[in-house]
Order: sequence, then structure tokens, then C-alpha cells
Amino acid sequence: MTSAPWWQSGVIYQIYPRSFQDSRGTGVGDLQGIIQRLTHVVELGANAIWINPFFQSPMAEFGYDIADYRAIDPAFGDMADFDELVAAAHGHGLKVILDLVPNHTSDQHPWFIESRSSRNSRKRDWYIWRNPGDSGGPPNNWLSEFGRSAWTCDAGSGQYYYHAFLAAQPDLNWRNRDVRDAIYEVMRFWMRRGADGFRIDVVWHLIKDDQFRDNPINPDAGAPPHECLLPLYTTDRPELHQVIAEMRQVVDEFPDRVLIGEIYLPIERLVAYYGQNLGGLHLPFNFSLLSSPRDARVIAKLIDEHESYLPDGGWPNWVLGNHDRPRIASRVGAAQARIAAMLLLTLRGTPTIYYGDEIGMKQARIAPDRLRDPLAKSMSGLGRDGCRTPMQWDETERAGFSRSQAWLPISSDFQTCNVALQRNESTSIYNLYRRLIRARRERRALTRGHYRPLKATGNLLLFVRETKTERILVALNLGNDPISVSFPSERLSGQVLVSAFGDRDRERLRTTIDLRGNEGVVVELDKATVLP
Ligand code: GLC
Repeated sequence: MTSAPWWQSGVIYQIYPRSFQDSRGTGVGDLQGIIQRLTHVVELGANAIWINPFFQSPMAEFGYDIADYRAIDPAFGDMADFDELVAAAHGHGLKVILDLVPNHTSDQHPWFIESRSSRNSRKRDWYIWRNPGDSGGPPNNWLSEFGRSAWTCDAGSGQYYYHAFLAAQPDLNWRNRDVRDAIYEVMRFWMRRGADGFRIDVVWHLIKDDQFRDNPINPDAGAPPHECLLPLYTTDRPELHQVIAEMRQVVDEFPDRVLIGEIYLPIERLVAYYGQNLGGLHLPFNFSLLSSPRDARVIAKLIDEHESYLPDGGWPNWVLGNHDRPRIASRVGAAQARIAAMLLLTLRGTPTIYYGDEIGMKQARIAPDRLRDPLAKSMSGLGRDGCRTPMQWDETERAGFSRSQAWLPISSDFQTCNVALQRNESTSIYNLYRRLIRARRERRALTRGHYRPLKATGNLLLFVRETKTERILVALNLGNDPISVSFPSERLSGQVLVSAFGDRDRERLRTTIDLRGNEGVVVELDKATVLP
């Protein structure tokens, strides 16, 4: 029997580098800071880190606007720091996943500067240039994800260029062969330096309609202004899958690498990104838990749908939070953040943990004058700074993150919510995360086992993970009131492996499972147990 690849059996930990650890007192986290804190990732039990972009950038969009794909931005360190980080991570047995941003560059990237220089530039076609529309305005109605038209007029040539995000982030033209080859070389460059794979930024945006048709009106009248059109002609285009297959071939030139994609699409569209014969992404990010209500039936349904839409051999994955979405502990509350962690780490598929969620960090409130995210400035209320505040390491000044004022304020609860404190509390959410990850490592049923739904009623979610030799029952209470689940066959028996509050581990269970409010248990079933 061949063992599962690391990106199936392990846990990915996402690091937003500006906010993880500042080693130099600049107020901004850096690569040396990550090196200093690798032991935290190891202690947690994750086996890979994905780091948001740290490449050279004017930081109009905090690194998602890249001016040189092959250089480290001085705010984060230099190439020697990167090499040291990879060596240190690999020394700890951790894989390193980089953020690849192929959809757009910075407007300061030499490619764009050259492209913009004249209509006849050799790189004109590397970006998406169009003449004004009939009325003299933008070529069509396409909207930027950050609001307003996605077209900006360049006074020099009188043409418009397309940008799915900020005007400072012009989109590359992925129909151009030279663009593709240039990015593939970037991928090889980092893999040669030891990168174990990529998370591809906004991969479903890469190809736009070649006829530049207007996007249709969104029939949902309540949609925010930037979503008043359906992105039919700007995202998820059929030609995209050819590009992804090419990227996969590049990754497959190197052994044991992974390709993950950022895609916000419903499951029936998402699964196409595994590619024909699984020749696409290894893991198209599954964001369904990011927006699911706290309702057992709804969650059970989305798990079932996910399982049933997966192509043969396609490997699932689950996400509770990232640098673009409000923190889970604020979405569902501190008590249910534990239940969410239990779900994330017991479902079939690779879990990705967003830094800080393992200690229950909340969405921070940030005074208007300290907001940094350009999205907060263009569309108030949608800013993402609140989930990007510095990691809370301890109760010392600035939470152990930095010697000087941090680029974003430290969340006000850092003295009660930090790693140092929670390490020493056996019942902390941090230790729950650790126990869950350890259980995954030790029980094959939790990594490789099938998923079998048992019950989803009211606040109770009950499922089993099983192999031929192991069966693990997961019982989660999504509400505040106690629940008692009885198994009339009287043949249920087992032992608690992990419990939400950390005070029932190794307890024997027979026939009935009593759950306190907001409690969950992971139970190793005895062989003789008969399940309905
Ligand atoms: C992705 C990133 C997000 C960024 C956007 C544009 O969605 O996750 O942070 O704003 O791409 O690069």
C-alpha cells in the first residue's frame, strides 16, 4: 500500500507574514520572524505552511501587487532569509507553500511599465488593453472586485487596461503564450529553491471572455455595488482549464509538489478545477464552511454535497478562515469556535488553519484612522484588517509580536488570548487544536477513512470516519443546550479520544452520548459497536 502524499495526510497552516512575527522592530512581520516561530507550527502539529506573498511590491495591496516575482520585498528580508526559512522548515519536517499571484502584477512591474509605454510595445499584449467604448468611456461594463469600473484609461495611449482589483494591479493577459511561459519560469525558479508548491491567487479569474461581452445584471437586488453584475464573462471561463493543466505539468516536473487554488465558486463549478483525469489542481480550496450558517442540517448537506460532487480520486479540503474573511471566533463565537475546529479537523480532507484561529483570535475592531486595507477605503464595512492583526504570542507589550508599533493594532484581548497562556491551560482551544491534530496523526480513520453521515437534527451533527479496522464517531453540539444521543441497539461503546473542553478524554461511553452545550466529542468505537 502506498502512503498518502503529505498534502493529503497533513494539516496546512496559513501565515500572513506581515502579522506573524517581527524580528527587526519594524512593526512588520518578516521571514526571520517566521523562522523564529516555526517551533509553534511544529508544536501545533501542522506539517506545511502556506505564506501569503512576500515578493517585491509597492504594497498597494499588501503584496498582492508584485513588482518582481523573483525578489523578496525588503520589508520581509532577502533571498538569504528565504533560503534559511526553507532549510529551517524542511529541517522541522514542514513543507513550504508559496502564494503565486499570476492574475495580475503591480503597475510598477517592469512588464507593465513596458506594456504601457506605447501601443507598439513588445509587451503591449501582455496585459489587457482595449479602445474606449462607443460612448467614449470604458470598453464594457466589467466591474472591479474593489468597486467601480475594472477599466482604467491610460492617458498616454488613450486605451484602457483591465484590472479585476485595484488600478495598481493590472491583469496579465493569459491568452498570451509569453505571459504563460514567463510565469511558469517563475514557478520553476521557486521550486528549484525548495518551494513545495503554490496556492494560486484568484485562479478562477485568469482568463476573460475573448469577445469582451458585458456581464449580465445580478438579479439579486440586495447585492453590494461591486456584485451588481454576475461575473459571467470575467471569471470561470472554459479556456482556463487548459492553463491550469499546463501549470500542473510545470509542478509535476518536480517531485511531491502541490497545487492549491483560490476559487470562490459553488461546488458544482469548483470540482471542474480538479481537471480532466485529475490533471488540474490537487486542492481547489473549498470555502463552503466560510459562509455556512450554524445549522446541523445545512452543514451536513454541504458536506454530503461536497463528497458527492468530488471526481473519482479527487481529494477534499476544508477551510474555516483566511486573510480575506472575518475570523471564525467572531463569526460563531468563542464556544462554537471549538466545535468548528473539531469539524475542520475530523472531516475527510486536508484542513487549512489560519494563523491565530488556533488560539481563538477574534476579528479586531480597528479605529478608522488605522485601517490599512485598500478595500476598507474603497468600500467601507468590507475591509479585511480585522482578521489580519498581529499574532498574539504572549501578554507582554505588543503581544510578543514586535518591539515597536505594529503596522496594524494588536487586538485588545491579547492579554487573555495568547499562545503563552493557552499552552499552559490544558483545556484551552489551543490544546484542543493540538489534541485534534495529534488524533489525526495517530488514527488512520481520521485521515484516510470514509465519511459516513449518521444524524443531523436540531443542533446535533453526528458522523463516522471509518477504515476497515478503525471507526471514529464525531458528535458535535452546535447549540448552547445539552443534548443526549441514545443508540438503542445498546451496542455502542467506545472511548473518548478528544473532547471540546478537554475534560473527558479517555472517558468510556456506552449506549448514550451526553453532550453539554457547545460540546463535541471524538470517540473511538469498539469493534463490536453496531451503528444504525
Ligand atoms: C486574493 C487574495 C486577496 C487579494 C486578491 C487580489 O483574493 O486572497 O487578499 O486581495 O486576491 O490579489
